[in-house]
Amino acid sequence: MRLLLTAGGTREPIDPVRYLGNRSSGRVGAAVASAAVAGGHDVTLVVGPGAVEMPAVGRRVDVGTAAEMLEAVTSNFGGCDLLVMAAAVADYRPIAVNGAAVGADKVPSGAGRLTIECEPTADVLEAVGRVKRADQRTVGFSLQSDGDLAKARAKLACKNLDLIVFNRPDTLDAGGIDATLLYADGRAEGLGYRTKADFADVLLGRCLALFA
Ligand code: CTP
Repeated sequence: MRLLLTAGGTREPIDPVRYLGNRSSGRVGAAVASAAVAGGHDVTLVVGPGAVEMPAVGRRVDVGTAAEMLEAVTSNFGGCDLLVMAAAVADYRPIAVNGAAVGADKVPSGAGRLTIECEPTADVLEAVGRVKRADQRTVGFSLQSDGDLAKARAKLACKNLDLIVFNRPDTLDAGGIDATLLYADGRAEGLGYRTKADFADVLLGRCLALFA
């Protein structure tokens, strides 16, 4: 099976030195990649900056921003059977600081309060969801602090996913994950707390079952 996996967060520049980022460590993505390699699958791994060490895979693409993640995923999607989007893609990117467009100049310090204006990034899963073939499967993650499964179900539908992994912020940069799998057919499956390696084995098995 040809797997396209993403791991880690993205960094959206504020200026040439600073960025908006998130706490994703890439551990879940790395664990899914390891499970996929151990299972003999052909793996393309798209990795965001600052992620933990990744296993050796067939092909690795390193990206920095959400725009680069979009390009890497969309250009590799046609050649994959399964996409698992474990990356925490930034939802917003800075476009102006105190009214001045984000560019090559460093924002000076000492000028009092700073206002950063952002615009939404393009949604990678939504983009591939529009061109997804009947023989392909896509899996996303939803991180919610309020335990609201309805939000994750809505994401599953609007991003045209087969499966979404609901989890909470305590998963970030942690050794384990307490996840609930939500399927497009309405099923929900709680996996309980597991190490990320154990979780990845189970998730990969469930992903492969989507082709049955
Ligand atoms: N995602 C994406 N492109 C984006 C943002 C997110 O492909 N620009 C993917 C993520 O990789 C994840 C899924 O979409 O697999 C859901 O992420 P998101 O839309 O951020 O949802 P939540 O984690 O539920 O959080 P929220 O809506 O509160 O940001």
